Amino acid sequence: MRAYPIAEGIHWVGAIDWNLRDFHGYETPFGSTYNAYLVRGSEKTALIDTVKAPFVPELLARVSSVMDPADVDLIVVNHVEPDHNGGLRDVMAAMPDARVVASPSGVKGVAEYHDGLAVDAVTADDVIDLGGRTLRFLPMPMVHWPDSMFTYCAESKTLMPNDAFGQHYACEERFADELGLDTALEQLGIYYANILLPLGTQVAKAVDKVLQTGWEIDVIAPSHGVAWRGADIAVAIERYRRWTAGEKRDKAVVVYGTMWGSTAELAVHVVDGLAQAGVEAAMYDVAVTPIAHIAYELLEAKALVLGSPTLHHGMLYRVSGLLTYLEGLHPAGRLAAAFGSFGWGGGAIKQMRERLEKAGFELLADDFGVKFRPTADDLAAAERWAREIGEAVRAR
Ligand code: FEO
Repeated sequence: MRAYPIAEGIHWVGAIDWNLRDFHGYETPFGSTYNAYLVRGSEKTALIDTVKAPFVPELLARVSSVMDPADVDLIVVNHVEPDHNGGLRDVMAAMPDARVVASPSGVKGVAEYHDGLAVDAVTADDVIDLGGRTLRFLPMPMVHWPDSMFTYCAESKTLMPNDAFGQHYACEERFADELGLDTALEQLGIYYANILLPLGTQVAKAVDKVLQTGWEIDVIAPSHGVAWRGADIAVAIERYRRWTAGEKRDKAVVVYGTMWGSTAELAVHVVDGLAQAGVEAAMYDVAVTPIAHIAYELLEAKALVLGSPTLHHGMLYRVSGLLTYLEGLHPAGRLAAAFGSFGWGGGAIKQMRERLEKAGFELLADDFGVKFRPTADDLAAAERWAREIGEAVRAR
């Protein structure tokens, strides 16, 4: 196991979770990494973050490739979520002399997660000198949890912002320019849409706060996926600016569930109607599309058009599952409309409307429902209905 140099005096010593396929409900087809960094001064060495508990041996093996883990002097807990803090006790056992620090909220979180384990608090006023290399801290509440914190090493011009600027992507490459910028940016967007979307205000403040420090940054080294360096830093920051500002395109996402194909048939014509109105449209069947991908497709979209047949007086459970997920992400500032088919009594459209509103969407007035199999007239009417939605999207 090797440690990977990412900046002067800093090695990546994290773990690669090639087989992760679900991160609290967010499908992760490409796995993830739990990044940890070893910062070495002339007198002391600090470990920034640990890893998910089962991956501690990998972290220790990587540390051992450059030094004896027992000689580590400081462990910084940037975030207490278990993917970073779960392995803390095992890492501490291998680094018995290390002082452990976290944000004031992180101190409480570590104690709550690890049965009363006491660690020291650091704030924005603290500087820890490792000998020619210093660490500074910026508590960043809700990027991603109340305890979240960024750590900065001025001498190495490296920012370690934990979940911010992360991506769930397992790979041997450690930088976006090695992986390929397009792949890294797509994964940055998927991560943002599924983890940080409801925290956009706090993320925007965090980026402003870092920029206001005037710190020189040559490397942004997050806790998941690849790091950013050189010109890629400005590109990643610009993506965050766009997403936190809620900038969108003339795009609508059509998502549906279907029983016997009637709602699917309607969906095809809804997409066509949207395209006729000059709107970029994409269509997904909830039975075969990962919810994380639908969330990503919505990131820069102005509207969601949601369809379901009626089953037992309500919507299909997968459509309901999507809405539960979206209620958490709360993608406000977007339009929504509902459509579907039914056999005798309806119910799905009314339910979808209520739940879309709860998720923060602004509902368009008209729904579109069809009894049994849509006729040619019904399909033409679905296209007309979708064109009106498309016009509302373009007018927005
Ligand atoms: Fe990667 Fe919020 O943990």
